Amino acid sequence: MTKTALPICFALVAACTLANADSETHGHEPGRATTHRTFEDVEHWSAVFDKPERDEWQMPKKVVEALRLKSGQTVADLGAGTGYFIPHLAEAVGPGGTVFAVEVEPNLVAHMRRRAEDNQLTQVVPVLTSKDRARLPRGRVDLVLIVDTFHHLDHRAEYLAKLADVLTPLGRLAVIDWMKKPLPEGPKPDHKLSRQQVVDEVVAAGYELVDSPDFLPYQYFLVFRKSEGRTWGHGTAPEK
Ligand SMILES: C[S@@+](CC[C@H](N)C(=O)[O-])C[C@H]1O[C@@H](n2cnc3c(N)ncnc32)[C@H](O)[C@@H]1O
Repeated sequence: MTKTALPICFALVAACTLANADSETHGHEPGRATTHRTFEDVEHWSAVFDKPERDEWQMPKKVVEALRLKSGQTVADLGAGTGYFIPHLAEAVGPGGTVFAVEVEPNLVAHMRRRAEDNQLTQVVPVLTSKDRARLPRGRVDLVLIVDTFHHLDHRAEYLAKLADVLTPLGRLAVIDWMKKPLPEGPKPDHKLSRQQVVDEVVAAGYELVDSPDFLPYQYFLVFRKSEGRTWGHGTAPEK
């Protein structure tokens, strides 16, 4: 390498490093999905979402334990995919509870229904939802869990306001999503939202952060409740 090429090379490396740091600290446009992809290929996504090695870093049992669900409660897995979390949620609420397995992709809804039938999980209710709202009964859900799906939602301010309506007065919203940096698992950093952006958006929509377990190696884990004293868009104020 010539004497003049060396500084140019260093300058390029420095510029790339800065650009990378920039992409990690700057968020996406608030409320816009970072990617619009289809999840219709059940076989492909089953191999991705349900690969046995995922348990090592996803720790589904520990995640569900941390959510402290009670027997008989109603939980919704929003963007449930192939149903990776469903058996754990079904166990936590028991046969007298309800697990809404909520998906926009019809093939995945049918797949989760088959899984529930095969495993005799009668408390699992597959829901073919709309993109712009969770099609769930108002005021009935104790916990909405959103895993690796928040960044797929569009118009999140409106979406989160409507979502508050399906929660019980003390209902919670748990968001687990990818840390915005290069990781051995998950999408590229460009498709991720920073933890701070998610907190800011959910708080701005009228929730407060009440817990943030930090045992997951690749994802942040945020638990929110509806903020007290807020008047909810559809007329349901949280009860005192
Ligand atoms: C990356 S996958 C995560 C699947 C699952 N939560 C898991 O952890 O294995 C995102 C899922 O969200 C679904 N999805 C995207 N937008 C949605 C929306 N507006 N409502 C419900 N599901 C949605 C997709 O069809 C896809 O199955």
